Amino acid sequence: MIPDEKASVKSEGRREVTDIVSGKPDRMVSVRSVFGIDSDLTVPAFSERDDHVPEIDEAYRFNPEVTLAILAGFTRDRRVMVQGLHGTGKSTHIEQVAARLSWPCVRVNLDGHISRLDLVGRDAIVVRDDLQVTEFQMGIVPWALQRPVALIFDEYDAGRPDVMFVIQRILERDGKFTLLDQNRVIQPHPYFRMFATTNTIGLGNLNGLYHGTQVLNHAQMDRWNVVATLNYLPREEEIGIVLARVPELAGDSDRALIESMLSVAELTRKGFAAGDLSTLMSPRTVISWAENCQIFRDPAMAFRLTFLNKCDEAERPAVAEYFQRCFGRELDVERESRAAQY
Ligand SMILES: Nc1ncnc2c1ncn2[C@@H]1O[C@H](COP(=O)(O)OP(=O)(O)OP(=O)(O)O)[C@@H](O)[C@H]1O
Ligand SMILES: [Mg+2]
Repeated sequence: MIPDEKASVKSEGRREVTDIVSGKPDRMVSVRSVFGIDSDLTVPAFSERDDHVPEIDEAYRFNPEVTLAILAGFTRDRRVMVQGLHGTGKSTHIEQVAARLSWPCVRVNLDGHISRLDLVGRDAIVVRDDLQVTEFQMGIVPWALQRPVALIFDEYDAGRPDVMFVIQRILERDGKFTLLDQNRVIQPHPYFRMFATTNTIGLGNLNGLYHGTQVLNHAQMDRWNVVATLNYLPREEEIGIVLARVPELAGDSDRALIESMLSVAELTRKGFAAGDLSTLMSPRTVISWAENCQIFRDPAMAFRLTFLNKCDEAERPAVAEYFQRCFGRELDVERESRAAQY
């Protein structure tokens, strides 16, 4: 996490937003009309949009199974973890569900430097009536716990396992939280919710893709009531996502281009699964490639700049061959290396 982001999380923990403390969902919305999912369910939502509610991204496309899992988290107070490969839309999925329900939400990016004090709180020096005094400043966990807020632990597997024990108790449904330094026990707000996203399933970096992740404690993994998996989607859905992001490519004339792009992405994923490649194209990379096509007006150049240069040099010929197979034209792999030499 970059220092500024970390600072903003901390300051957010301190911010007193009293108007949302007493809030609760005051209307029911239909899953069919809001999320376009074939289901008769209705889910609670807020009418007022607090400034912690994420912006609605109209282009976001919901994956029905994952959406229903996240909605179970909001409706039935389940602790929901969304796991999957990188760039598949996990973090945005939870945020976009919250956005549609106008449910305030706070996202904490966990990293190896997030400490117990960041999560629980600490004594800090503040100025009151021109005097410097020491005051306990609540961390993000007790702050969120007392509010109708969805707390999202992003990159859950990057958090240090010893620090993660702080949340062990609140993972249980009625889990109260004890502020030891304050001799206070905090009762969770009835509309407090908790979610997490992770790339690995707590067993560490098994495939070599997720350097920096931790092996998680399984007593803690066990406390997550629902684990939804969001991996790569069927081709048509992924095309829909890319076109939603880059509508300029939605015309019939660009259909062949987008199909070829998806074919390359699928080949890299198969190549990765077969052990031929050590990296693969995520939907996020495909979206960047489509966006870069608009900038550079050349899919081959955009491909080199978006993905090829991220690959190990020894693997570039294999990736270029995938491109050649899908686009029927050669990709000048050498060009970038030559440019780098001059
Ligand atoms: N279903 C979707 N509809 C629209 N855009 C999507 C969808 N899924 C992913 N995206 C876009 O892809 C990008 C990656 O999404 P996001 O950051 O949520 O992925 P992630 O799974 O959390 O990745 P990571 O594991 O790297 O954290 C975002 O720009 C997001 O808007
Ligand atoms: Mg994410």
